[in-house]
Amino acid sequence: HQQEQQLHVRKQKEIKSGDLGDDEDGGGGGGGLEGTDPEENNSVHLKRRVGLVSGVALIVGTMIGSGIFVSPSGLLVRTGSIGISFLVWTACGLLSLCGALAYAELGTMNTSSGAEYAYFMDAFGAPPAFLFSWVSTLVLKPSQMAIISLSFAQYAVEAFAADCDPPEEVVKIVALLAIILILLVNCYSVNLATGVQNAFTAAKLIAILVVIAGGSYKLIQGNTQHLKGAFDTMDGGTVNIGRLATAFYTGLWAYDGWNNLNYVTEEIKNPSKNLPRSIMIGIPLVTLCYALINISYLAVMSPSEMIESEAVAVTFGNRILGVMAWLMPLSVAISTFGSANGTLFAAGRLCFAASREGHLLDCLSYVHVRRFTPAPGLIFHSLVAGAMVLSGNIDSLIDFFSFTAWIFYGGAMLALLVMRRTRPNHPRPYKCPLIIPVLVLGISAYLIVAPIIDKPQIEYLYAAGFILAGMLVYLPFVKYGYVPKFMEGVNAFLQMLLEVAPTAAAFD
Ligand code: ARG
Repeated sequence: HQQEQQLHVRKQKEIKSGDLGDDEDGGGGGGGLEGTDPEENNSVHLKRRVGLVSGVALIVGTMIGSGIFVSPSGLLVRTGSIGISFLVWTACGLLSLCGALAYAELGTMNTSSGAEYAYFMDAFGAPPAFLFSWVSTLVLKPSQMAIISLSFAQYAVEAFAADCDPPEEVVKIVALLAIILILLVNCYSVNLATGVQNAFTAAKLIAILVVIAGGSYKLIQGNTQHLKGAFDTMDGGTVNIGRLATAFYTGLWAYDGWNNLNYVTEEIKNPSKNLPRSIMIGIPLVTLCYALINISYLAVMSPSEMIESEAVAVTFGNRILGVMAWLMPLSVAISTFGSANGTLFAAGRLCFAASREGHLLDCLSYVHVRRFTPAPGLIFHSLVAGAMVLSGNIDSLIDFFSFTAWIFYGGAMLALLVMRRTRPNHPRPYKCPLIIPVLVLGISAYLIVAPIIDKPQIEYLYAAGFILAGMLVYLPFVKYGYVPKFMEGVNAFLQMLLEVAPTAAAFD
């Protein structure tokens, strides 16, 4: 108990210093050297640079990627009627909000970066936390990054190449270039990265407003015919409980990113206030946008036209924007670029947090000595994501991605419940109603099990196998701390090459 008390005191201090650590935005867009705060100057660590606006942008700007512009057709196919599809869209928003509120409690209790990683450490100890970082640094986060950059490339190229499908190689090269550009931005300066995030978030919100305005105009003109008979099942559509889960996966991908801010808690100014606030502003905002956009699409095209369209937003633009139709692919490109930026921002911190505890390679936890960016973690992520872009076949990954992701989201709910028992007196600056994690835990169990029952596929087994394979790495390298001799040399070399240095551990 005493130990727990001491921990409180330390954490409280941390939170307080967060309150005061207003070293953001000095020179804006991240020119020269940063972090001139005299108190913080002599130690190398990440600085608190994310305020409320950037916090909201890191959530909203990551959640809104390609999903809402592309997936409405997939969701319609999987639900069979516009009524049910609309319900699923809204339910996904509510589920994300509930999940995020639980994360708000977790993130204000434990203010170290790394989200699930930090919470698993607290609630379940090192092995599960390691397994999480193993899967997410090698598969989850890079595959998110790869999927989004590929969608970015698809639309960026489409905006310029008219009538024909762009060649696959070109798309891949553009995707790689985007990853490199985002990597450079993120390594160069935290302020520049959050600045990019803010600007792109604003741009995509404007694009969404355009769609909603266009849709409303059509509705006012009386184009309401496609909204009638909302619950009539379309030709060939059936819903069953397993298929519904895959519909949820499609929808939840569009909402994914709701936990993005939790990865960077150490860099949020006054996290106990700004983390819950950003969540409570960001996620309802996204849900509202998505609901209105879906109605707008239907004001302009019929459900079957929607299903046939490869990218609903682009079809929408062609119908309604006339000579400005190119705006739509461009908006999707902007939206996905911003989402990729937010994804890398968070992924770098996860890598940083896990390697700081000795769970991944030490050098991945180093921070640039003058720019205070976790450069090695960012570079590592970009390399894995780049490899995934090259190997292709990303589309089918989304379902498996969600399957694995929801194992961990469910795990975080369990962590919350466990800590309510094991650390009842730990300060919780934000406490969410108990029903929320229980509900989300139940739903994530359904989301994990239902698709397997509906359509058992060997890939699910691979995913589970991969998670467990992590244990084989954990025992020798983490638990027994075996480090090959040459790693010392590698670490030293990287420190000099990248001008990075180790930081202090968060858990001791
Ligand atoms: N929701 C985004 C989209 O619609 C993808 C977000 C990827 N997830 C993440 N955690 N970065 O494309």
